[in-house]
Amino acid sequence: AGGATALALARDGVDRIGPRSPEVAAAERARARSGRTVSRRLTAAPGTVDLAGRSARTTVYDGALPGREIRAAVGDRLRITMTNGLDDPTTVHWHGLALRNDMDGVPDVTMTPTAPGATTTYDFAVPHAGTYWYHPHVELQRDGGLSGPLVVEDPDEPLSYDEDVVLHLDDWTDGVGRSPQANLEDLARNGMGDMGGMEMSSDGGVDATHPLGTDTGDVAYPLHLVNGRPPADPYVVSTRPGRRIRFRLVNAGGDTAYRVAIGGHRMTVVASDGFPVEPVEVDALVIGMAERYDVLVTAGDGAFPIDVVPEGKEDPPARAVLRSASGVTPAAGAAGPAGRLLTYADLRPTEAVALRARKPDATLPVVLRMVRGGRTWTINDKTYDEHEPLDVLSGQRVRLVLDNRTTMFHPMHLHGHTYAVVSGGRPGVRKDTVNVLPGQRLAVDLDTDNPGQWLLHCHNLYHGALGMMTVVSYV
Ligand code: C2O
Ligand code: CU
Repeated sequence: AGGATALALARDGVDRIGPRSPEVAAAERARARSGRTVSRRLTAAPGTVDLAGRSARTTVYDGALPGREIRAAVGDRLRITMTNGLDDPTTVHWHGLALRNDMDGVPDVTMTPTAPGATTTYDFAVPHAGTYWYHPHVELQRDGGLSGPLVVEDPDEPLSYDEDVVLHLDDWTDGVGRSPQANLEDLARNGMGDMGGMEMSSDGGVDATHPLGTDTGDVAYPLHLVNGRPPADPYVVSTRPGRRIRFRLVNAGGDTAYRVAIGGHRMTVVASDGFPVEPVEVDALVIGMAERYDVLVTAGDGAFPIDVVPEGKEDPPARAVLRSASGVTPAAGAAGPAGRLLTYADLRPTEAVALRARKPDATLPVVLRMVRGGRTWTINDKTYDEHEPLDVLSGQRVRLVLDNRTTMFHPMHLHGHTYAVVSGGRPGVRKDTVNVLPGQRLAVDLDTDNPGQWLLHCHNLYHGALGMMTVVSYV
């Protein structure tokens, strides 16, 4: 993607939404301030990773798969100096943060990408607590292992737990299977095969309930990883019985939604895409590409599988282990991945983060289609190269109606905002990425309070790369 449109946009964007524009300056001033600065260096470069005794050559941040966790507190200023040790230009996108537009890391829209050998410093305030992540926003770079968790703590958060554990989930191929580029070329050339001709009409209603889709994914992966570890050498969470663990689940996968369950345990969901929700107990949840869930779990006595099952794929599942006490008793009576599943309609934002109900000032359709049998993916019948920005005005309540006319999942992500999923006609759970199911129509409401040019795109890497991206723009 890219090309003339994006470049024209870039020039226009830098003029209109530069760091000195009064709107951006006002938005910056309104952000929380703690007075603290967290400084870090980040190097994107080729590296060798060990996968259960098998070494694979790939590209990583600081030699680690996944990239090391970045942790800050709400209101801190993050100053991250990224050096590009890759052969191609790159950027870093801070997924989910309502940051200033010129730090958002979108090539040719918010910045010129960092050339090989060059260094860029990202410097911005973090306005909200929660579980976020970082990754490049250039072509398929994310699929090679370039991503890591970004956790923003809130000292006043009303949750109590003993341990804080990130589980970074990823479908992974580079160095052990076909390259991401080969997968993309295959999709661009051959499309979706048998599923390629299908178009689904949506059922008319806008709904946030979560019937399971029939998505099969575009790409089979030889490996699914938890914190960079394959099932043969699983990541182990060691604790003691009765301890309360906050798991921060991040789906960094390019083309896989995961069904997550912890044998013998129920999970209490306390946050979605970083924003708190009223606690809900479930046996299992499906986490779409780029989504995050924070769950609390009280450790039982024994060793329990953390099942991470690719949704609708035949690939071998990922797995981690929760080990407490002696750690030798296998889990008994596990609810497992077949238990009661979480739906968006189950989730309610806490009072503190709820978007007040208000009639939208503008309602914009966002129609998601597959054309040419899956060789091209569009938003409102345009690819990214052809797109025209969805023009909205500052200070409005905007409703986006995400209308999935395909048989695939589309995890739709809006940069720079955390919208509310409309449920029963009212703004509900706050999210920045919503997994729109096959044939589903889902509405999200947002307030235009962070001026800039913000990407709206499918976080399935292949759909995005083959066109399913556009821009929401306001000054
Ligand atoms: Cu994870 Cu455009 O973003
Ligand atoms: Cu998609």
